[in-house]
Amino acid sequence: MTNSYKAVKLTDKVYWVGAVDWTIRDFHGYTTRRGSTYNAYLILADKITLVDTVKAPFREELVSRIASVVNPRDIQVIVSNHAEMDHTGCLPEMIRMIEPEQVVASAMGVKTLGEIFNRDQKITAVKDGEQLSLGNMTLRFMETRMLHWPDSMFSYLPEAEILFSQDAFGMHLATAERFDDEIDPAILDYEGATYFANIILPYAPLVTKLLARVGAAGLSIKYIAPDHGPIWRRDIGGVIGRYGRWAAQQPTMKAVVVYGTMWHSTEHMARAITEGLTAGGATVRCMSMDAFHRSDVAYEILDAGALVVGSATLNNNMLPQIADVITYLKGLRPVNLIGAAFGSYGWSGEAPGHIADILKEMKIESVSPPLKVQHVPREDDLQSCFYLGEDIARQLKKNKEAA
Ligand code: FEO
Repeated sequence: MTNSYKAVKLTDKVYWVGAVDWTIRDFHGYTTRRGSTYNAYLILADKITLVDTVKAPFREELVSRIASVVNPRDIQVIVSNHAEMDHTGCLPEMIRMIEPEQVVASAMGVKTLGEIFNRDQKITAVKDGEQLSLGNMTLRFMETRMLHWPDSMFSYLPEAEILFSQDAFGMHLATAERFDDEIDPAILDYEGATYFANIILPYAPLVTKLLARVGAAGLSIKYIAPDHGPIWRRDIGGVIGRYGRWAAQQPTMKAVVVYGTMWHSTEHMARAITEGLTAGGATVRCMSMDAFHRSDVAYEILDAGALVVGSATLNNNMLPQIADVITYLKGLRPVNLIGAAFGSYGWSGEAPGHIADILKEMKIESVSPPLKVQHVPREDDLQSCFYLGEDIARQLKKNKEAA
């Protein structure tokens, strides 16, 4: 057993004891170019308490960091705020090793952990609003169902004014620094938004409600301690405000043009649409799916007002890289978008129609019928693409003014 990993102090009584995963690059389809952390926290109350654990391969790191402060077997309470395996992979082993007095989770957490680990974990269900005495300190629980699993909950430690927020307010970012004020704010903005877009976005309406509940509860928060990435302590109001803005997805003057091309014809169309959008006053991201990852597109969609998707037709269908990204985006359920479909074709040309059907299922209002060009776009075809871009920009402006 290694003893080279050390705990990091938040306050005199609370320590970070998680793990840094410098190498992970894929999180179920979301590319994590800067790695991640699995955060766990140790509360030195009368009843020593561990909040969350880490992914199974990182158990030694967790135990080493705990052991730098206390004997792990002195832990009396384990709280599982979220059952997903990046936070519970080593929970059964930790329970076996520590034999704590009590392990607690939400009612759905108890059910989910039972299903995942297929054994009786002797876990106690805690209710929304319930408090657990740790002797000289108290943990207060707040259910956050579907943010982003049914079991998810927050724990609040009033004596240290810490909100343990599991995945919420997190990001995939491996760093040696543990606090937000030690890291480049531009990296925090980018990775925070990327995480929200790829993980939290489907549940954005619940975020809005949750933030209202947190506000109404009147919690005094000095630290937000999530399960991934840095601990927030610099500007808590700003962190919460940014989540509110991302969740609201207000219409903007930004368009994302996503395309897949075979012989550059659809690419020429994409670029002409981009020119039209720009001429109409929109900000544009023009993204070939041969050059970008689906999670890059998700990031760009977060503050966009339009999604324009093009594909060449291959074997009566859209290109596989477009099927990939559009399936992914559909699952993320972005709102307040307008859009259009386009693409070149040789003889049948089904792809733009298929894309338009999916945009409709996504409740994206179409600015025009699918725009199709046979083989290679001529000057008048490119002019039509340019006009489409201008039309979308005009509609974006109207939507922004109406919001
Ligand atoms: Fe970080 Fe939903 O697990």
